[in-house]
Amino acid sequence: MSNILVSGGAGFIGSTLVDALLLQGHKVTVLDSLVSGRRDYVNKAADFWELDILDDTLSERFLSSKFDFVYHLAAQIDVRISVENPVLDNRINVLGGLNVLEAARLSGVKKVIMASTGGAIYGETTEIPTPETATAYPLSPYGIHKLTLEKYLNYYYQVYKLDYSILRFSNVYGPRQYKGGEAGVIAIFTEALAHDKPCIVYGDGKQTRDYVYVDDVVAALIKALKINYQGEINISTAQEIDIWQMIAAIEKAANKKLQTSLAPARPGEQNRSCLSNRLAQDILDWQPQVSFTDGISRTYQWVAEQVQ
Ligand SMILES: NC(=O)c1ccc[n+]([C@@H]2O[C@H](COP(=O)([O-])OP(=O)(O)OC[C@H]3O[C@@H](n4cnc5c(N)ncnc54)[C@H](O)[C@@H]3O)[C@@H](O)[C@H]2O)c1
Repeated sequence: MSNILVSGGAGFIGSTLVDALLLQGHKVTVLDSLVSGRRDYVNKAADFWELDILDDTLSERFLSSKFDFVYHLAAQIDVRISVENPVLDNRINVLGGLNVLEAARLSGVKKVIMASTGGAIYGETTEIPTPETATAYPLSPYGIHKLTLEKYLNYYYQVYKLDYSILRFSNVYGPRQYKGGEAGVIAIFTEALAHDKPCIVYGDGKQTRDYVYVDDVVAALIKALKINYQGEINISTAQEIDIWQMIAAIEKAANKKLQTSLAPARPGEQNRSCLSNRLAQDILDWQPQVSFTDGISRTYQWVAEQVQ
């Protein structure tokens, strides 16, 4: 069993990953500043460092903990915040990531696995489902900074032989995503319906996304521990779902209707996003297992329980 650090381990995907790693018998330490994560999501069997990834003591702490593997999930994840404040996004998503990489290198970590993004890196593309080989044209500072950190991982591998794998997620959804404020669209819509609140649909609602369930993402992250592949791998369903299809699935799970109002499309919003997962099948031997209907039903059930 391995000694593993998970940055962002109090967040939606990170805390779900930590639970799964502990179940497999690994020793897990969570590094999280709790800026959007929650302390009560951190499994009690994990060590917890309430710390910023930019902290100056990171290398020292890594040196005394001797981690085998590092999952890097801590990030500023809101695309709109990255547009409003690109300097802040750069500080967390590039400099913070670099601080984690330096600490990993100096303390002899075997491998770093990074949570990256598909949609925000590829931008608007004609190749759907989009493969990893598509040229990246990020349309936001968030996408640019994720791509920049990816390049740093490759640099650390080339120069210092620090192994890495990058998983580029499509739109992840599931329990624990909603924490108030901005979140993924499924989290916002399921939460609104559970509270009988109305929702705004921007544009014609025909914009599509590729929604992958959090347990499937966690299964891919765990499989990434064992592979020897230094590169980017999409983690997605390769299935396009538009806003109206998503609303229909949520209404079916809840057995009630969502009140919607229409508003003009938001500038800069991507029209289509759908990622190929063929490489994940080949390299990781991974395929999504949870159907959209099933995933939505599990998510709605969790959201409804929070409301009670
Ligand atoms: N949710 C998605 O659809 C999606 C899609 C593509 C990629 N990702 C990536 O997956 C990762 C996890 O995302 P999530 O959806 O679980 O988001 P999340 O906000 O729930 O988790 C991010 C965690 O990082 C922590 N964090 C943020 N800044 C920090 C800092 N400076 N120092 C220490 N901790 C800090 C937060 O407190 C939070 O617990 C992110 O890297 C994100 O970019 C998510």
